[in-house]
Amino acid sequence: MTASVLFVCLGNICRSPAAEGVMQELIQKRGLTGEILVDSAGTSSFHIGEPADRRMQLAAQQRGITLTSRSRQATSRDYQKFDLIIAMDRNNFRELATLFGEPSIKLHLLSEYLPKDAPRDVPDPYHGGPAGFTSVLDMLEEACPKILDELVSISRAKAG
Ligand code: 4NP
Repeated sequence: MTASVLFVCLGNICRSPAAEGVMQELIQKRGLTGEILVDSAGTSSFHIGEPADRRMQLAAQQRGITLTSRSRQATSRDYQKFDLIIAMDRNNFRELATLFGEPSIKLHLLSEYLPKDAPRDVPDPYHGGPAGFTSVLDMLEEACPKILDELVSISRAKAG
C-alpha cells in the first residue's frame, strides 16, 4: 500500500518545499519510491505557481537536494487525501485546523518529531539571512527520518 504526507507552511516557497525535497531524497535512499507519496502546500495564496525561493533552492542544493515543487494553497480536500499533514509552525497548524473544520489525528507540528528541547516552530526564514535557511534544513533533516518511519508503519498497516 501507499502512505502520504503533506508538508505545510505559509508561502509554500521556503520551509515546506524544503521538507518535501528532504523527504523525497530520504524515500529514494531507503528504496521506498512509489510506496510513500509526498507533497507540500501553503496556507496563503501569496506565491501560488512560484518555484521554491532561490535562497532555499541554493541551500538545499548544497546538500544535494533539488527542489522542484510549485507553490499551491492547501484546501479542505487535502484532509481526505493525505495520511499525515505536517505544519511547520503553530500559526500554520491553527490555519489548517480551521480549514479542515474538525480536530484531526492526521495533523501534526513538525517539532513533534524533534527532541523535546527543540523549538516548537520551524522559524520562517523568508525575511532573514542565509543562516535561517540552513537551520530550517537542519531541523527537517532531523525530523524527516522519524516521519518516514511513521509513514512506513501506516503503509504496512493498510496492507494488513
Ligand atoms: P514559507 O516562507 O512559509 O516557509 O514559504 C514564507 C514565504 C513568503 C512569505 C512568508 C513566509 N511572505 O510573506 O510572502
